[in-house]
Amino acid sequence: MPAVSYDVQQRDILKIAVLGAAGGIGQSLSLLLKSNASFLLPRDSSRHISLALYDVNKDAIVGTAADLSHIDTPITTTPHYPNDGNGGIARCLQDADMVIIPAGVPRKPGMSRDDLIGVNAKIIKSLGNDIAEYCDLSKVHVLVISNPVNSLVPLMVSTLANSPHSANTNIEARVYGITHLDLVRASTFVQQLNSFKSNNAPDIPVIGGHSGDTIIPVFSVLNHRASNSGYANLLDNGVRQKLVHRVQYGGDEIVQAKNGNGSATLSMAYAGFKIAAQFIDLLVGNIRTIENICMYVPLTNRYNTEIAPGSDELRSKYINGTLYFSIPLSIGINGIERVHYEIMEHLDSYERETLLPICLETLKGNIDKGLSLV
Ligand code: NAD
Ligand code: LMR
Repeated sequence: MPAVSYDVQQRDILKIAVLGAAGGIGQSLSLLLKSNASFLLPRDSSRHISLALYDVNKDAIVGTAADLSHIDTPITTTPHYPNDGNGGIARCLQDADMVIIPAGVPRKPGMSRDDLIGVNAKIIKSLGNDIAEYCDLSKVHVLVISNPVNSLVPLMVSTLANSPHSANTNIEARVYGITHLDLVRASTFVQQLNSFKSNNAPDIPVIGGHSGDTIIPVFSVLNHRASNSGYANLLDNGVRQKLVHRVQYGGDEIVQAKNGNGSATLSMAYAGFKIAAQFIDLLVGNIRTIENICMYVPLTNRYNTEIAPGSDELRSKYINGTLYFSIPLSIGINGIERVHYEIMEHLDSYERETLLPICLETLKGNIDKGLSLV
C-alpha cells in the first residue's frame, strides 16, 4: 500500500522515525507521539511533525499507521515495511531528525535480557547499517530501546561509527540507550512506599546500565531533600536495599505478570515518550539543551565541547575504564555536550562501595559482548 501523501512539502518538517513501530512498545509510543507531539511545537511554528513508522510485520504496520492517522492532531503518519514499493526503510529514514528503535524480541519468564542478544543484535546491526546508509549522520539522533541495551548500544555506536558515511559526523555523540524506565520505576516505588503523600514525584537519578545489578538508583539524593519531605527515612533499616532491588528487577515483575506475553510495553512507551518529548523541545528550539537526562552512552568521546574541570579525574577514579555508562548528560542539537561525572562524587558509601563495583564488572562483560558482535 503506497504511503498517503499530504501537502506539507512547503513546510519545514520535523521527522521522527520509529523502527519496530507495530510492536507493543512501538504502537503505544507512536500513539503518545501522534496524540501529543504537536502540542510541543511553539505556537507560531510553521513546522510540521511527521511520524514514519517502520516494521517488518506488513499488516500490523499498515494497520497501525492507518489507525493513528484518524487522530485529529496535525501529524502525518506513514507506514513503511520491506518491499513496500515505496522505498521501504530507505524512505522511512530519509531526512529523519530522530530515530527511535523498539524493534526486537522481548523476554519470556525465565529469560534474562542477555538471552535476547542472538536475535536482537542481528536486528540492531541491520538497522544500524540502514541508518548509516539513509540518514544524515551529521544530524540524526538515534535512541535505542531494544534489549539488551547494555550490549546493543555499543553495537549500534560501532556500526554507525565504522560506516563509510560517518567521517566528520561525530555520530557517537548522538546515539543513546534509553534507560529512563528505571528512573520512572525508582520514582514510582518511592512514592508507593510513601503512600503517595506528596504530589511531587521525586526525581531519582539512575546510573550504570539497564539490567539487574548494573542498575544503580541513586536514592541517596533523598538525603539531600528537606527533612520534612517525608522521603529521607525511606533510606533507613534496609528499606533502601529492598527499593534498590525492586528497581533493579522491576522488569521481571512485568515479564512474570504477562506470563509469556512479553515484557513492559506501556510503562516503557511512557518513559520513551518522556525522553522523546525533550528531544522534540530541543529540535524545535524550545530549549537550547536538555539538562540532566540520564541515558546510556559512550564515554570515550570528548563530544567536541568543553570538558568540565575535573571530569577526567572523576571518570578514571570512579568509572574505571568502562566505555559505556548511563549518567546525567547535557544534550544540545549536536548531541552530548557534557557528561555530569560530578554525580559520582555524591554517591553515598552503599552506592559507591557496594553497588558500583558489581555494576562495573557486569557492565564490562556486556559491553565486550556487544563490541564482539560488530
Ligand atoms: P514486540 O515483540 O511487541 O515488538 C517488537 C516489534 O519489532 C515487532 O512488531 C516486530 O515485528 C518488530 N521487528 C522485529 N524485527 C524487526 C526489524 N528487523 N525491523 C523492524 N522491526 C522489527 O516487543 P516489545 O515489547 O515492543 O519490545 C521490544 C524491545 O524493547 C525488546 O527487545 C524489549 O526487551 C525491549 N524493551 C526495552 C526496555 C528498556 O527499558 N530499554 C523496556 C521494555 C522493553
Ligand atoms: C524492562 O526493564 O522492563 C525491560 O528492559 C524489559 C525487560 O525485559 O525486563
